[in-house]
Amino acid sequence: MATIAFDVYGTLIDTDGVVSRLREWIGSQAEVFSKTWRSKQLEYSFRRGLMRHYENFAVCTRQALEYCCAEYDVSLSSEQKDMLLQSYRGLPAFADVEESLVALKAGGHCLFAFSNGTSEAVEEVLRANGLRECFEDVVSCDGLKTFKPNPDVYHYFMREAGDSKDAWLISGNPFDVIGAISAGMKSAWVKRSDRVVFDPWGIEPTLTVATLSELCEKLDINKP
Ligand code: LAC
Repeated sequence: MATIAFDVYGTLIDTDGVVSRLREWIGSQAEVFSKTWRSKQLEYSFRRGLMRHYENFAVCTRQALEYCCAEYDVSLSSEQKDMLLQSYRGLPAFADVEESLVALKAGGHCLFAFSNGTSEAVEEVLRANGLRECFEDVVSCDGLKTFKPNPDVYHYFMREAGDSKDAWLISGNPFDVIGAISAGMKSAWVKRSDRVVFDPWGIEPTLTVATLSELCEKLDINKP
């Protein structure tokens, strides 16, 4: 049975879950605002990692929100910003998540949540979606005070999970899949939209699936 790390934001949890609230406040800019918010949040984590100037992922999220307000010339009150950041802690899971996690756990696989987010934030968002019980544990990059895709965080995961030989990372984020494979893990890319492109670095995912339900089928085929 496999040790399986699930990336959280963008894989289990839909970071576009704030769009409906944003739409009430900023109308048709909501979609592009949400996409930029997410990509800036990640950019800030990459830059903080490179600069070795760590602040946790919630800080990256808050500063990316400030950036987007300036970029799109949107003036939100501090209460509205707090509400958005609070809703980040209760973002919804993608529809296929619960059933697939339950099936994988019942199949004897050992599941972990593995995220840039702090353990506290990840525990909260998993509980809000009734998913916490599916996981053996939450492993946060905050334990190393750096972010994905630093290879150290994938090695840290394998040490924490006690499996350095056969561990999988499941992620909707191509940079995360490439990071995990480069650090010696197997990795499945969850291609949640036809329009998402995998980075052409010559490093391919061990598996590509469109949904977590497809992952369940394919992992069973890959059983040793
Ligand atoms: C995470 C990032 C990649 O959950 O969103 O680790």
